[in-house]
Amino acid sequence: RCAELGESYIGKTVCMMGWVQKSRNKGGLIFTDLRDRSGILQILFEEQECGSEVFQKASELKQEYVIAVEGEVRSRGKDSNAALSTGSIELVAKSLRILAEAETPPFPIEADSKTKEDLRLKYRYLDLRRPDLAKKIVTRARIAQLIRHFLSEDGFLEIETPTLIKSTPEGARDFLVPSRLHRGAFYALPQSPQLLKQLLMVSGMDRYFQLARCYRDEDLRADRQPEFTQLDIEMSFVEKEDVMNEIEGLAKYVFKNVTGEEANYTFQRMPYAEAMDRFGSDKPDLRFGVELKDLSDIVKNSSFNAFSSTVQNGGLVKAVVAPNANEKFSRKVISEYEEYAKTYFGAKGLAYIKLTADGITSPIAKFLSEDEMKAIIDKTEAKTGDVIFIVADKKKVVHSALGALRLRIGKDLELINKNDFKFLWVVDFPMFDYDEEEQRYKAEHHPFTSIKAEDLDKFLAGQTEDIRTNTYDLVLNGSEIGGGSIRIFNPQIQSMVFDRLGLSQEEAKAKFGFFIDAFKYGAPPHGGLAFGIDRWLMVMLKEESIRDVIPFPKTNKGQCLMTEAPNTVDEKQLEELFIKSTYEK
Ligand code: AMO
Ligand code: AMP
Repeated sequence: RCAELGESYIGKTVCMMGWVQKSRNKGGLIFTDLRDRSGILQILFEEQECGSEVFQKASELKQEYVIAVEGEVRSRGKDSNAALSTGSIELVAKSLRILAEAETPPFPIEADSKTKEDLRLKYRYLDLRRPDLAKKIVTRARIAQLIRHFLSEDGFLEIETPTLIKSTPEGARDFLVPSRLHRGAFYALPQSPQLLKQLLMVSGMDRYFQLARCYRDEDLRADRQPEFTQLDIEMSFVEKEDVMNEIEGLAKYVFKNVTGEEANYTFQRMPYAEAMDRFGSDKPDLRFGVELKDLSDIVKNSSFNAFSSTVQNGGLVKAVVAPNANEKFSRKVISEYEEYAKTYFGAKGLAYIKLTADGITSPIAKFLSEDEMKAIIDKTEAKTGDVIFIVADKKKVVHSALGALRLRIGKDLELINKNDFKFLWVVDFPMFDYDEEEQRYKAEHHPFTSIKAEDLDKFLAGQTEDIRTNTYDLVLNGSEIGGGSIRIFNPQIQSMVFDRLGLSQEEAKAKFGFFIDAFKYGAPPHGGLAFGIDRWLMVMLKEESIRDVIPFPKTNKGQCLMTEAPNTVDEKQLEELFIKSTYEK
């Protein structure tokens, strides 16, 4: 490849193929930059070296023509170009073949493109020619190789599971595929291979992995795609520590080989309850402080009703401190913060206390006693120049609003060192989460997660709140890059969990019958985890968008701008499937 040629090739004759990045004619000399996925090589056409016919052809080269050039590698001596990895050599052409001509591309093929993403996605094959994007795809391929190598060495089997499966409830909405042979019946695309990998453990495969495509019909965000790739792992005869150790080993191995850094990858651990309490998030970004402080005790009898009544009704009052933010946080910025907390997290308000050199500015100062104000400042350890933000609400609202504000503060005040990598295991997630809207319990992770030994008796005795599980999510710089658990392998406990989730025995049988049955025939204890490969790559390469690490991504409206999927289909195709659309334009 272009960038693989070096000084060791000087004097040798080679044939190189690739795309014309640019070509400039300087009288008797033509300089052509030849590009392939590795980089750029300078080609020199000299009329007396290559003859007039080749020279004439070279003078007609345009950008993105595909060419083959044969010639001799020569040193550029003092004309070296330090900006190019191949800058100390050039290829002096003897012959030239034009393999394909090209129209002028709709945008320049260059690193750091200023072109709008929509246009780049429409011509993704041209976008992928850009060296910085190409590099990410190369890294992605490398990661797959590293994973395969590491896990195979450790006795894991790479096993494929089907992507046309039965629809089973798993958190998100399923993508459905109608069956032609079974009228009115549907396959679903897997949200993950969860059930099948557990059945592989029942089959005795004992160590499984797969780079699995997963499909979830959910609302998209910057770090979500409707189809994405998991590194899916499952192991038999293990406990939590065994899985976590294996994963830490793998994560270090991949990181070291991709980033080239021999960094100190310490994997901190934090129970879910602590993460929520201190950071308002189950995936805290530990690259900066700004922790949540509980003010409930201080204000429970306050004459400020918004605070005291919240505490008396079982809610919380908590605060975060924006350090040295006085000047940056004008009234306008603060009201943007308040709108943000209200619109996205359902907070009823956002109180603030500004500690300026001239004293306290706060819309709630008049409602608080001097002692209360002093206690708040003490508890939050706020100093002159800081701004304290306070939310009073139900626990969930307080944590989600302040957790999000904390991240915004970190970003806006530039408290985050972008070169840091902070790994964190968040462990012991609760088994059940009460859904206020649907008025029922849902599984926080999934219904196959085993209950912590310490909480099992409480669960068996009928308790549903505060039951902790053998779960572990891997968080990197505030992004959940993986998650897993030790599974239930006792069929009685599995049916009790279904029961607590409001699934009748008949429903459980209809949905998971094949799965429940399997556990009657001797299931080993087992557990595993799945990495979101796209997300992992995104964080590791410090990208803002998941689309930048996916060769052919979808937009945040779930479309492929290149092929224009999803799209309508022929009437005939629908007829064969016995489907009639009720949608009217
Ligand atoms: P979970 O649902 O947590 O667990 O998924 C595992 C990881 O997959 C990534 N991920 C996504 N990446 C991109 N786009 C999405 N829409 C998306 N959704 C999830 C995340 C997440 O941590 N079967 C279980 C794993 C197990 O228990 O072994 C599972 O799927 O990085
Ligand atoms: P009000 O008396 O409703 O105008 O509120 C006075 C101040 O308290 C405003 O700055 C509100 O944003 C704030 N506030 C009101 N309710 C809450 C709440 N539940 N949590 C935090 N701040 C609140």
